[in-house]
Amino acid sequence: MYDNNPTLTNLDNKQILHDRQGEILEQDGFVDDPNAKTFYIESYGCQMNFSDSEIVGSILSDCGYSPTKNMETSDLILVNTCSIREKAEDTVRKRLRIFNKVKEQKPGTLIGVLGCMAERLKHKFLEEEKLVDLVVGPDAYRDLPNLISTAEDGDKGINVFLSREETYADIAPLRLDNNGITAFISIMRGCDNMCSFCVVPFTRGRERSRNAFSIVSEATDLYTKGYKEVTLLGQNVDSYKWENPETGQKVNFAQLLKLVADVHPDLRVRFSTSHPKDITDEVLTTMAAHENICKYIHLPVQSGNSRVLKLMNRTYDREWYMDRVEAIRRIIPDCAISSDIITGFCSETEEEHQDTLSIIEWSEYSMSYMFYYSERPGTLAERKYEDDIPLETKKRRLSEVIAIQNKVSLAHNKRDIGKTFKVLIEGTSKKSELDFKGRNTQNKMLVFPKKAGLAPGDYVRVKVSDATSATLIGSLVE
Ligand code: SAH
Ligand code: SF4
Ligand code: F3S
Repeated sequence: MYDNNPTLTNLDNKQILHDRQGEILEQDGFVDDPNAKTFYIESYGCQMNFSDSEIVGSILSDCGYSPTKNMETSDLILVNTCSIREKAEDTVRKRLRIFNKVKEQKPGTLIGVLGCMAERLKHKFLEEEKLVDLVVGPDAYRDLPNLISTAEDGDKGINVFLSREETYADIAPLRLDNNGITAFISIMRGCDNMCSFCVVPFTRGRERSRNAFSIVSEATDLYTKGYKEVTLLGQNVDSYKWENPETGQKVNFAQLLKLVADVHPDLRVRFSTSHPKDITDEVLTTMAAHENICKYIHLPVQSGNSRVLKLMNRTYDREWYMDRVEAIRRIIPDCAISSDIITGFCSETEEEHQDTLSIIEWSEYSMSYMFYYSERPGTLAERKYEDDIPLETKKRRLSEVIAIQNKVSLAHNKRDIGKTFKVLIEGTSKKSELDFKGRNTQNKMLVFPKKAGLAPGDYVRVKVSDATSATLIGSLVE
């Protein structure tokens, strides 16, 4: 259903990053040490999960495991799971059946389920999926070495306690998905919003912000190692707040952005996700004041209709959202905005759906992640509202949303023809060995012919000559 759409990331599918315009980033690229025990990890869901897998990697390395991309030979197979929609969970169950086949060939192998699905299903997982040895929730990764020992002794290892404090601030992530140029930094965990459709508050627990100094030192360390771009991650970055327990000094998100931007002018800073109710003018003016803070905001609207937004418990209405977009246009005129959209939420009428179509055009999103509503057990919507929109209607509305977004994305990209952008080279284009790919500040992917002497990590200037709805095509300018 999603597959034909180039601007769409399907979070239900394998290993897709929320902010990466549909690009699939495999977690691989390791050197196998024949003497060490090895772990294999697959990650699903949002960027936070990918970031968490790197924390897991670090904890496992400390207890003697090295990463491998070969599932068949590994001692420990892990899957970091997502519960956001039913399909995301179905995908994981399918993967588990494959892991179990591998285990039949190599009986000592341990299989572990990490992340949101582990948290949501807890002990049920062990009952349903008999061959799972470990069930570990997102706040329990420090306990992995103990849980592995328990499982090696033939018992089941389970820890799904959610914490109010855990931020893994002191753990240096093992960079698994490593292009050596761009990296994620988790700045907070959990979510205190109660969007009625969303399972995240239940799987990730209460919101907590990570020590600002540990964030800045992680960014500094990455820059020293040659990285050129960091993405600060949280479910709602605008509500970041941290207080230095020694000095009482408070740091909000705008201040954190400035601290990270000051690490080095050549280190780009991105962030995700912004919540329309919380994004402040102070954040926008901080972005405008720093060339290296990328001019791109992921500002999910979910629906363009105020009644539906109220049912979704998003705590803003259409007018509030439009006011925030206008503030972005006023303060950062060249900023690109993207969105998340849900079609067919409980009781949504055709007119209300039209409001979603019109806000996509009005906001001129450079791209969107689009989904039809999937009822999740335990959420407010599941308890309070009837999931009454037929599947065909949800899907038809989704295809209308996709069609409008494609049109808007193409127009947005066509406007860039003739412009020259500063681009950070990320690597070789997937389509041609002869081309580089890289992003501009607006998070648009550019593809352009290679030139000797240039390498990933270099900043170059690229003039755009053509555009599709997903990519800008151009050539280097001196
Ligand atoms: N914290 C982010 C969203 C994280 S989840 C925010 O508030 O914007 C990523 C996206 O998945 C959401 O923005 C929403 O569009 C979608 N989503 C969440 N729950 C869903 C559900 N039950 N059905 C369909 N899509 C859902
Ligand atoms: Fe879910 Fe809402 Fe929190 Fe985003 S802000 S993670 S949609 S509850
Ligand atoms: Fe999925 Fe959990 Fe992220 S439910 S979207 S992996 S926070």
